[in-house]
Amino acid sequence: MSDKASSDPSQSAAERLKSIPLFTQLSEVEVTRITEVARERTYPKNSVILFEDDPGDALYVVLTGEVKVVLIGEDGREVILSILRSGDFFGEMSLIDDQPRSAHVIATEDSNLLVLRRDEFRQCLEDAPRIALGLLQALSRRLRRADDKIGGLVLLDVNGRVARVLVELADEHDGEHVPRKITHHMLAQMIGSSRETVSRTIRDLGERGLIKVSRKDITIVDRPGLEELAGL
Ligand code: CMP
Repeated sequence: MSDKASSDPSQSAAERLKSIPLFTQLSEVEVTRITEVARERTYPKNSVILFEDDPGDALYVVLTGEVKVVLIGEDGREVILSILRSGDFFGEMSLIDDQPRSAHVIATEDSNLLVLRRDEFRQCLEDAPRIALGLLQALSRRLRRADDKIGGLVLLDVNGRVARVLVELADEHDGEHVPRKITHHMLAQMIGSSRETVSRTIRDLGERGLIKVSRKDITIVDRPGLEELAGL
């Protein structure tokens, strides 16, 4: 999901914004107007940026770093709905439907975010209605992913679910590798399983020659085999 937004410090704020998919369609004047009203904020790793059920008053765009969108159950168990990186945005739902925040958003790396307050966001939409198209495209992409996830949870066994999440994560990275910083615990939180089950499944997929596990990453060795298992 993450399209790269450049964080080259030599770029102007407007150039940087234009490299973010949500704003690519905008004219120089429109982008400059946003840079004038938005502000940048830094969130250290593990800080909570948004709390589920809080009222929503701003939209966030990830400039650098990484955040996770999570639901946390009464018993403290976490479900990771999505991992967002440079160029992705979040916090739009509450601004659109005036409902409380639908999930927690937590920084998984030190992250630099662009923050647009509610009234500024509304003003941007009025000044530059093309933003709405970018927003709808991103929401549509997100809904497709959520549909895939629901389908996977209902239709696949745990082997299939692990296979699917590995293919998806590799595609988000370089098409072939899943970086080791995605731990077995995180994989379990993405597919609604336990860390032990995920570790066992990954060992099994390795023994079957579908993946290769090293200290640095997981390599997809047999993509067609993995995709078949994942129902893709
Ligand atoms: P909001 O409800 O305002 O605050 C939490 C944000 O998390 C939400 O807006 C979305 O931007 C984001 N979010 C919620 N669900 C998902 C999902 N399934 N995938 C990606 N992002 C999500």
